[in-house]
Amino acid sequence: MQGIDAYKQLIEKEITELKIKDEPSGLYSPITYLLGLGGKRMRPILSMMSAELFGGNPKEALNSGLAIELFHNFSLIHDDIMDNAPLRRGYPTVHTKWSEKTGILSGDALFVVAYHYLAQNTVTYLNTLLHTFSVRVMEVCEGQQMDMDFETRDDVSIDEYIEMIRLKTSVLLGAALEMGAIVADASRDDVQRIYSFGENVGIAFQLQDDILDLYADPDKFGKQVGGDILANKKTFLLLKAFELADNDQQKKLQELSEEVDEQMKVEETRKIFDQLGVRELARIEMERHYALALESMELVTASVEKKKPLLKVAEYLMNREV
Ligand code: IPE
Ligand code: IPE
Ligand code: MG
Ligand code: MG
Ligand code: MG
Repeated sequence: MQGIDAYKQLIEKEITELKIKDEPSGLYSPITYLLGLGGKRMRPILSMMSAELFGGNPKEALNSGLAIELFHNFSLIHDDIMDNAPLRRGYPTVHTKWSEKTGILSGDALFVVAYHYLAQNTVTYLNTLLHTFSVRVMEVCEGQQMDMDFETRDDVSIDEYIEMIRLKTSVLLGAALEMGAIVADASRDDVQRIYSFGENVGIAFQLQDDILDLYADPDKFGKQVGGDILANKKTFLLLKAFELADNDQQKKLQELSEEVDEQMKVEETRKIFDQLGVRELARIEMERHYALALESMELVTASVEKKKPLLKVAEYLMNREV
């Protein structure tokens, strides 16, 4: 195997061939719809690359990688309901195309499909994988709850924010790598190190997600630009802006949190962010976590050559536009 594209093709083929039933179509067609809209498929790519890094056959990490990708897609259906998001991967979200009720149940069904693929692993690793997966998935739920709780709090600290994104996003990237390492029989220390690499890449990944949410090119992004501001999300950008704002700017930001004109709310908030330079500060925080990820990778017992594909993925994620 070589670069990202080769892995992505293989995963795309597996996802196209997934056996999702047809009937009742109200339950299954939203699943086929969302999976068919693509996405970067980063998590299964990470699983396969991690297996390969530790001398395993990347295909042995496919079932775990798929389970994580399916869980990820399930979490997006529910996340879009929770975030009131109209667009996903350039198309209407499941709950806008169908209904919230459909989103809840099709999401549940997709979660079951994820466990089905996880259970296809050989019995040697099954217990460990089930345990790891379940622990990480529960952490994602905890992070998602914190994300919602923060919407109505005005005393959220940057440390709390980092903990929230660690849970909602980065543990799953970590889990993808961790599970790839497990099926490749990596040592306990290496499993921990590669997880830690993923966790830090994941924190940087979510910081970039927050930046893109406001500053992405709407023609490429595939999600609603400004959605985090409309949902009063406590992103790094907003928390830093509150920290740096003078009295007038603080007052304005407060008022904007209750603004009903959506376009005005996004534009005026962005103006204050730009005055305070918070986008650059988010980028610096991202790079700090990226550097921590590289430190964890340094410690992994494998040759520099073998580490290159994963380092390339991490670099790609730091500069992604989608
Ligand atoms: C979106 O994840 C949700 C977050 C954790 C930020 P991705 O950016 O990996 O979404 P897809 O799968 O590529 O669409
Ligand atoms: C999503 O965070 C994390 C999970 C789906 C668990 P966001 O809410 O920022 O993700 P997007 O921006 O909708 O993809
Ligand atoms: Mg969201
Ligand atoms: Mg969300
Ligand atoms: Mg986001």
